[in-house]
This record gives sequence, C-alpha cells and structure tokens, in this order.
Amino acid sequence: MTKPNPIRPVIPPEDHIFVDDVRKSFGATKVLKGITLHLRRKETAVIIGGSGAGKTTLLRLLIGLEQPTTGHIWVDGEDMAYLDEVQMNKMRQKFGMVFQYAALLDSLTVLDNVAFPLREHRAKMGSSAIKDKVVSMLNLLGLENKENRMPSELSGGQRKRVGLARALMLEPQILIYDEPTSGLDPLTSRMVDDLIEETRDRFGITSVVISHDMASTFRIAHQAFLVVQGKVIAEGKPDELAHGDNEEARAFIAASGVNTDNVSRVTDAKPSPNRPEREPERE
Ligand SMILES: Nc1ncnc2c1ncn2[C@@H]1O[C@H](COP(=O)(O)OP(=O)(O)OP(=O)(O)O)[C@@H](O)[C@H]1O
Ligand SMILES: [Mg+2]
Repeated sequence: MTKPNPIRPVIPPEDHIFVDDVRKSFGATKVLKGITLHLRRKETAVIIGGSGAGKTTLLRLLIGLEQPTTGHIWVDGEDMAYLDEVQMNKMRQKFGMVFQYAALLDSLTVLDNVAFPLREHRAKMGSSAIKDKVVSMLNLLGLENKENRMPSELSGGQRKRVGLARALMLEPQILIYDEPTSGLDPLTSRMVDDLIEETRDRFGITSVVISHDMASTFRIAHQAFLVVQGKVIAEGKPDELAHGDNEEARAFIAASGVNTDNVSRVTDAKPSPNRPEREPERE
C-alpha cells in the first residue's frame, strides 16, 4: 500500500474532484500554470477555453494518463499521486470517458462496441448477462433495436449515444466528455446536451465537460471555468461569466455569438422532475 499524502488540505465535502494548484510542463513549455478547480458531486462542470489553452492536457491529468509537474488532484478525498497500481486501477474505474466523435470501433457492431468494457473488466460476467446489460442501456438511451447495426449505419447523435452507453457500462461516478457537441448540428447538439443532463440526473453522476460550445455551456453547466493560457481566469455560473466583472470572460462569451438571454439553463430547471420533454428521435 502506498502511504497517504501527509499534507492534506481542507477539501469541501461537496468536492468530488479537487484540482489543487496543478502545473504541467512539457520540457520548457509551461502548459498549465496553476489550475485550481472544485468539481462538485453530481453537478456538471464545463471547462471552456480557446485552442491551445490546455483543456486536453487537464483532461489527461484528471483521468490519470499524465501526472502533474506540481500540485495535486484529489478524487473522493484521495490524492491520485499517492495511489499504488491496484488503487489506481480502482480509481480509473470511477471515471468514464465520452470521446470526441464517439471513437467507436467501426468494424464492431453497436452491441460489441458497448460490451467492450465489460468483456475487458468483468471477466466473470457471462455473455447473456453482458448482452442484457448492453441492450437495457441502449433502450434507456433511446437506441432500441440498434444493437446489431454497424457504427456507419448510425447518425452522429446516435453514435454519441452509443459512446455514452459504452462509457456507462462500468457504472462510473464521474463522466468526462471531450467536446461532446463538436461537429454536430444545433438540433443534435441540443439533444446531446439533454442527454448529458439526463444522464447526470438519472445516475447521480458528476460530469466534467470540455467544450468550445458556449450555447451548450449555458444549457448544461452548473459551473463553468474559463481557461486561458493554462490558467483559470474566470469561474462561476455561465451567466456570472457573461455578465460579471471579468472583461476577458465577457469578451470570450460575446465572441462566441451566443444570445445569452435566449438559452435554457439547467440551473433554472429545479427541481429536476420538471425537466423539459425529450426531443423526438431523429434518424
Ligand atoms: N505532450 C506534449 N508535449 C509538448 N507540448 C504539448 C504536449 N501536449 C500539449 N502540449 C502543448 O500544450 C498546449 C495546450 O495543449 P492542449 O492540447 O491541452 O490544448 P487544448 O486547450 O486542448 O486545445 P484545443 O482546443 O485545440 O484542443 C499546446 O500549446 C500544446 O502544443
Ligand atoms: Mg483539446
């Protein structure tokens, strides 16, 4: 067993993930320059920022693919840097990843794509139990009777849902979405936003979304963090960023062209049973 980190900051109990003054350099290039994030349990945090700001680097640190140069990432009160291999594997299973463009394996059916993590990590599960679990998740996500399709036979929105079904197979507590709406038309983007919110609500998941899409950020974020050149320069509800004191944040949001007076927000939609009806399935 690896020893716990002797230096333990006070972490608010609502923090699922606490990113504590993380810096990351590649050689002489300083990419992250002191990032602190409090990512609250069962909420959606959106990390926004321009190209090259360091978003993907941050994502790789969150899922343990890279180590911070300095600083610490605490998940459920445990410092990721102080985990041994067994503990790290357990930790990784808390996370699910929904990749940009879904990242499905083109030569496998929907069933085999979604079953993949179970076959890798649940050796004792029989093939009929795996199939049942996959099909019930597909049904839940509005993909009835799609299990024998190939990914090429699905729409962009359906592929995203298959990617989400796959990410949910190991029952993660935290879902990380990399640019979930990039490359999608506005209507499909809305459906993906609804799906992110429904998934969070239904499974009690903490969502971390990396995004360029301001309209989507307004719809789904409980908190947004604007990253510029490796630093969080503004954080809060999207409205606070759009109308707050921080000029750079206001300019970033204004430049996106989104009409902030005309977007529905998850933070308005409480309590959750009053969620809007789901939009109809599009082929
Ligand atoms: N392994 C690496 N080695 C050297 N530099 C890197 C490495 N990974 C990222 N960088 C640099 O770090 C900076 C931030 O990259 P990152 O991919 O995190 O940006 P991003 O915010 O995700 O951008 P985008 O929106 O374009 O995806 C870039 O200047 C990039 O060249
Ligand atoms: Mg990136």
